[in-house]
Amino acid sequence: MVEPTSTNGSTSPRAERKKLIEVNHLVKYFPVRAGLMQRVKAWVKAVDDVSFFINEGETFGLVGESGCGKTTVGRTILRLIPHTSGEVLFNGHNVFDLGSGDLKKMRRDMQIIFQDPYSSLDPRLPIGESISEGLRVHTDKSGQERYDIVAEMLTRVGMRADHARRYPHEFSGGQRQRIGIARALALQPKFIVCDEPVSALDVSIQAQVLSILRDLQRDFGLTYLFIAHNLSVVEHFSERVGVMYLGKMVEMSPRDMLYADPLHPYTQALMSAIPVPDPTVKRQRILLEGDVPSPLNPPSGCRFHTRCPLAFDLCRQEEPPFKDYGGGHYAACHWLETGQRGDSKLTPANIAEKKGQQVARQVIH
Ligand SMILES: Nc1ncnc2c1ncn2[C@@H]1O[C@H](COP(=O)(O)OP(=O)(O)O)[C@@H](O)[C@H]1O
Ligand code: SF4
Ligand SMILES: [Mg+2]
Repeated sequence: MVEPTSTNGSTSPRAERKKLIEVNHLVKYFPVRAGLMQRVKAWVKAVDDVSFFINEGETFGLVGESGCGKTTVGRTILRLIPHTSGEVLFNGHNVFDLGSGDLKKMRRDMQIIFQDPYSSLDPRLPIGESISEGLRVHTDKSGQERYDIVAEMLTRVGMRADHARRYPHEFSGGQRQRIGIARALALQPKFIVCDEPVSALDVSIQAQVLSILRDLQRDFGLTYLFIAHNLSVVEHFSERVGVMYLGKMVEMSPRDMLYADPLHPYTQALMSAIPVPDPTVKRQRILLEGDVPSPLNPPSGCRFHTRCPLAFDLCRQEEPPFKDYGGGHYAACHWLETGQRGDSKLTPANIAEKKGQQVARQVIH
């Protein structure tokens, strides 16, 4: 049975919640081929040993700058692209071990909503046909039954049944995203990967689409992997949040703990970019220098060291362990492991102090 999800997104007080999705040591490398023989010359390390779980009926927010590997995580979980290693358990079964029959069944239960629904809707088909496509492939429902489901799904997302006869170009961006949601819902899935579903929409429309997703979650007991490139969108939507940087999970935590006390310097930098609604409150914005480095040749040790204002020698040599610092609040930073929590804070005083320490260390050596 699906446990109820509270509307404010807070975690259920019941301690034991069933894990619907478990991702263990997921790795996805894309081959780079070159030459006449198209030999593999290098690997794009898009996802490099990522682990997390999502409880049934919960939203797990996955955040990180563009190119950090979020979409690749979502697509690999759904087996839309092959994995390199690791496992993904759906209801306890490894999706990578499923044969074609079981895989077909799994595809009904696991769906995706894209950032740009236009690219996933066939421009030559009335949208009703696109929404019912999965029903044709996966069920033996009659034409009338399929029509009824399409009508219900369109109504659920705040559109009209007669919209089914119209074509994608006749709709606005927000309406197209609603159609994308109706399409993902038609097969009554258990789990939906929402890949930046509101990133391309105006802020006012974003709120409407998020509200629809939240209502659907409550009514159908859906479980979401909600991908976003900033922390503000997932703040009110997720019960737990993971932060990715260059193919790695660098922090993962229940939502409230993460927003109250971000441990990893990268998360703190992302957090500082969230606009504060109160104009009298000024938040110090931490600007990270440079772009995310290439996953073709990621930096040694901590992958964030090339941009981290607190980096020291060890960061360049050893990868920091991803450890629980209390209550399921995980992070990977050497300062957390070796010092106090305050040592990993991106405050001007701490940055100055750590820079001073490094100078001192260099003088001693
Ligand atoms: N099909 C592919 N072939 C090669 N590299 C890819 C492919 N898809 C994604 N990548 C690379 O993998 C990295 C992660 O991409 P992606 O998962 O799309 O990140 P995000 O969704 O966080 O922006 C990027 O460097 C991207 O260029
Ligand atoms: S202090 Fe070192 S380990 Fe911590 S985030 Fe910065 S570079 Fe990584
Ligand atoms: Mg993406």
